[in-house]
Amino acid sequence: MNQQDSLKQLVGQTAAKLVKNGMIVGLGTGSTVRFLVDALGKRVQEEGLAITGVTTSNRTTAQATSLGIKIVDLDDVDHVDLTIDGADEVDRDFYGIKGGGGALLWEKIVNDASTNNVWIVDQSKVVDRIGAFGVPVEVIPFGASKVFAKFEHQGYQPQWRTDEAGQLYRTDENNYIIDLKLGPLTDLLALAEDLINTVGVVEHGLFLNRVNQVIVGNETGITTLTA
Ligand code: A5P
Repeated sequence: MNQQDSLKQLVGQTAAKLVKNGMIVGLGTGSTVRFLVDALGKRVQEEGLAITGVTTSNRTTAQATSLGIKIVDLDDVDHVDLTIDGADEVDRDFYGIKGGGGALLWEKIVNDASTNNVWIVDQSKVVDRIGAFGVPVEVIPFGASKVFAKFEHQGYQPQWRTDEAGQLYRTDENNYIIDLKLGPLTDLLALAEDLINTVGVVEHGLFLNRVNQVIVGNETGITTLTA
């Protein structure tokens, strides 16, 4: 395992300890969350930890159920106690970008439904100003090229996301993703407002102040940033 994966494992295992018996837990998506789900599966099997999970992608559902974690639909629970997710970038004001793994829509819905939100990241994700990663935007397929053209006209540097086969990437909701390559961002609130008001956009990957705690893995161990 390389150093970055070791840090992802460390934060995943650390965050798994936040989960208590009886909790309804939101499970994020991505390579860091995979380690969290592994650790939670271990606790379920070895300690008899009783939790109910709601997930943010079909991938996470498949992994969690294979490990014996009970998964239900978000609409079948009246609240979510704690959601643990990864992030692509986060700054010190807890402004973040998500969606590198394509799950931003369900991630934002579960985040919104959750009483507490914790992100787990390795140190490379903590930046002074978010944006260099790009901003993923989920759009419905109907008329998507019109949305793309609008973004081009606005100077948003759009790129279609493609899959391994070179086809347009499809989300769990069968939508497309357009990545905006704007570089480090200054007016985040205005951009978020503009994106969500663009007809055809379902959701965007700007997660602005939606997290209570960020657990960061670095060479010396764990640092916890609290809002
Ligand atoms: C999934 O759509 C994303 O929001 C992920 O949570 C984010 O990309 C972090 O993924 P990694 O843990 O794989 O870096």
